[in-house]
Amino acid sequence: MNLTVIGTGYVGLVTGTCLADMGNNVTCVDIDEDKVKAMKNGKIPIYEPNLEELFNKNIVGDRLHFTTNLKEAIQNSSVIFLALPTPQDEDGSADLSYVKGVAHDLGKMIKGYKVIINKSTVPVGTSDIVKDIISSHTNVAFDVVSNPEFLREGYAVKDFMEPERIIIGSKSKKAKSILSKLYKPFISTKRPIIFMDERSSELTKYASNCFLATKITFMNEVANLCEIIGSDVDMVRIGMGSDSRIGNRFLYPGIGYGGSCFPKDVNALVKSSDEANYDFKILKSVLDVNVQQKKSLVPKVSRYFNNNLKGKKVAIWGLAFKPNTDDVREAPAIDVINELLLQDVEITAYDPEAMPNIERIYGDKIKFGKNAYDILEDADCLLICTEWSEFTQPSFDKIKKLLKNPIIFDGRNMFDLEAMKHNGFHYESVGRKI
Ligand code: UGA
Repeated sequence: MNLTVIGTGYVGLVTGTCLADMGNNVTCVDIDEDKVKAMKNGKIPIYEPNLEELFNKNIVGDRLHFTTNLKEAIQNSSVIFLALPTPQDEDGSADLSYVKGVAHDLGKMIKGYKVIINKSTVPVGTSDIVKDIISSHTNVAFDVVSNPEFLREGYAVKDFMEPERIIIGSKSKKAKSILSKLYKPFISTKRPIIFMDERSSELTKYASNCFLATKITFMNEVANLCEIIGSDVDMVRIGMGSDSRIGNRFLYPGIGYGGSCFPKDVNALVKSSDEANYDFKILKSVLDVNVQQKKSLVPKVSRYFNNNLKGKKVAIWGLAFKPNTDDVREAPAIDVINELLLQDVEITAYDPEAMPNIERIYGDKIKFGKNAYDILEDADCLLICTEWSEFTQPSFDKIKKLLKNPIIFDGRNMFDLEAMKHNGFHYESVGRKI
């Protein structure tokens, strides 16, 4: 099939590349000329494991193309994906200006039947808005489908290629038949397409992300309680997770959830519930608890140093909001850094991928290292903000030799308590004994 993907952000690029890899002829459109030029030369603008090789393979195979010319891109394709940003507005709601802008453009341009498939996370009712905008410009037949994306950063290719489910929100027989054909290579009895109406599909995306954010936040509160009453959250987590109704995934406590999705989506669902005069209390608590959780590491450090961190040197491992990405949007490390800088702490930091993005925010206020060890020299303690696999089995001897004191504050519960005791560290983590 000839496909157009509008927007070459994270979702657009993964969608375009993976669909090209299934033999489709895909044209990706973006307004950013420099980005399009770079992509035409095989330069991928994001870091995502396994994506680059697939991207290059399909460019070489002449199945993946890039352009800034929307009119030209949609000429030969009746299937158009919208993968546009829906950033958080000042009031917490999702900003639909990109989606609406493209809907106007499409309305003016389409000449024959098109199915317009929205992959972005958009508030309930957006399909209707897009339909109304396009209809205001044309009488040509078209369908607008809601087809939310559930991929995780770091696992995007795998999640796209082996989805646990594909949600299609549409009442049109024609659109459903086109999408069934397009997604055929990705489905199986275990991985079905679930058809529903547009409004339910749009809410499914928000409800899924908000539920996961709630699950994590619940565990963060359990961990906080564990610290006070002397239980071990690791044990509690294993005990709870072995009930298949609860499941053992997304039960890991830490220093709060971050990223470009959960924070934005929880805010947006709260906002649209308020607009519908529904007080979504549990989600409001999730927002409050997560703000606190992201600030929870520094007080532990401060307490240890008798509430005086001025002039201390702190080393940080991990800056990205989670491992396997360079994304630092809403990363807990940013809250940690802000709080430490407020208290006049000297910061050295290392992250396998995210240092350039943090440097862009803080400039020379933070010193960065070439590897995990060279930021430790003479630091008063080490803080861990992201659980990168390269931090899982460090040389504790080396750490001890380099740090001024053998002290680690771990926001991701990476190490075994007994082993740390044995290694002679003062080790504080989340929801476990000191
Ligand atoms: C999330 C969802 O998992 C995807 O299904 C969804 O498609 C995506 O948002 C989106 O809407 O685009 P992502 O933001 O890439 O994916 O990251 P997650 O792996 O879900 O992690 C989110 C945050 O939760 C991270 O800060 C992570 O550290 C935290 N987390 C996750 C925990 O603190 N504990 C856990 O047990 C799991």
